[in-house]
Amino acid sequence: MYSPEKDGEVLLKGIKMDRKKTVLVSGGAGYIGSHTSVELINAGYDVVVIDNLSNSEKDSIEGIKRITGKNVPFEIVDTCDQEALKKVFEKYEFDSVIHFAAYKAVGESMAEPLKYYTNNLISFMNIVEMMKKYNRPNILFSSSATVYGEAEILPVTEETPRQAPTSPYGNTKQMSEDILRDCCRAYAVLHGIALRYFNPIGAHPSALIGELPRGVPNNLVPFVTQTAAGIRECLSVFGNDYDTPDGTCLRDYIDIVDLAKAHVAAVNRMVAGKMEDKYEIFNIGTGNPVSVLELLTTFEEVNQLKLPYKIVERRPGDVTAVWADTAKANNILGWKAERTLGETLKSAWEWEKRIRKI
Ligand code: UFG
Repeated sequence: MYSPEKDGEVLLKGIKMDRKKTVLVSGGAGYIGSHTSVELINAGYDVVVIDNLSNSEKDSIEGIKRITGKNVPFEIVDTCDQEALKKVFEKYEFDSVIHFAAYKAVGESMAEPLKYYTNNLISFMNIVEMMKKYNRPNILFSSSATVYGEAEILPVTEETPRQAPTSPYGNTKQMSEDILRDCCRAYAVLHGIALRYFNPIGAHPSALIGELPRGVPNNLVPFVTQTAAGIRECLSVFGNDYDTPDGTCLRDYIDIVDLAKAHVAAVNRMVAGKMEDKYEIFNIGTGNPVSVLELLTTFEEVNQLKLPYKIVERRPGDVTAVWADTAKANNILGWKAERTLGETLKSAWEWEKRIRKI
């Protein structure tokens, strides 16, 4: 039997946690997880973070503590490891779990599908299984706008049909949504919300936490900030012959702090017992389509610098345009994106400058 004292874990001695106000955040050292932990704490929740640090750094836990001034119990745990996860559920009392821990590189998932299916699905099923076993009612799952693929009608609502996934990564998001829906239907204790994120960008205004891609970034904004920092020579814009106003793709770029606050709104809803269905889905975006060139121009303007870029071939698998209808999140969660694209791109650059010591 696991014993906190015997295993040297004394973190929680003397700390009383109210299970309704405590949230387990898996993948909480990562980009979205760390920002969400901060906003949960700001909203009065206690947070327990687990992360295997496979794509994140322990520094982000320090960042969360510095921003909030609060202690954050942190355990290095791989959510695929059922025994380790069991210990977490036995040690801490919490009603809600936010599950971020997953691999997220679309290209890598095409090259290594098994790695993605194994990690993303087993970790998610382990979490759901533990919640059922230990009577923990509320689960929030990180889904993605990738489930909409190339939608016929824009903006996409939560009712827009999902498209056949174009990558194993996207497939794990769809499969996890389905697993959650079925489990909420079948098991009385479980209530679930899936948040479908559009394109999360930016960093905390303190520049103490932000996105830390390993190797060459796949996503636009980390590539932009690394190019501005001189780490990359030139940004490649993937195609300017799309059927859009300036020929480049349209996306819905959502500020990371706004996105984090959407998680707080969703947890509030679950904790207050206000869900209308046992499983609900919300789009989390701004509702504003922005082209790649618009984003680059805004980045240059707000940060007063010039960005070297060239137009290259389209990137295989990119959809022309996708942006959110946010009415459901606005009306039901009472949440709305607030920061402007300029503010967000400024925060992205401040973060890059801090970590590169520029
Ligand atoms: N882009 C460039 N140059 C780059 C990187 C990206 O021009 O160096 C362009 C892309 O072609 C696309 C846009 O910038 O038009 C955004 O690309 P990202 O890679 O930043 O984001 P995606 O929209 O491709 O994908 C993101 C997430 C996925 C998620 C998807 C949901 O990375 O995990 O949104 O829509 F599934």
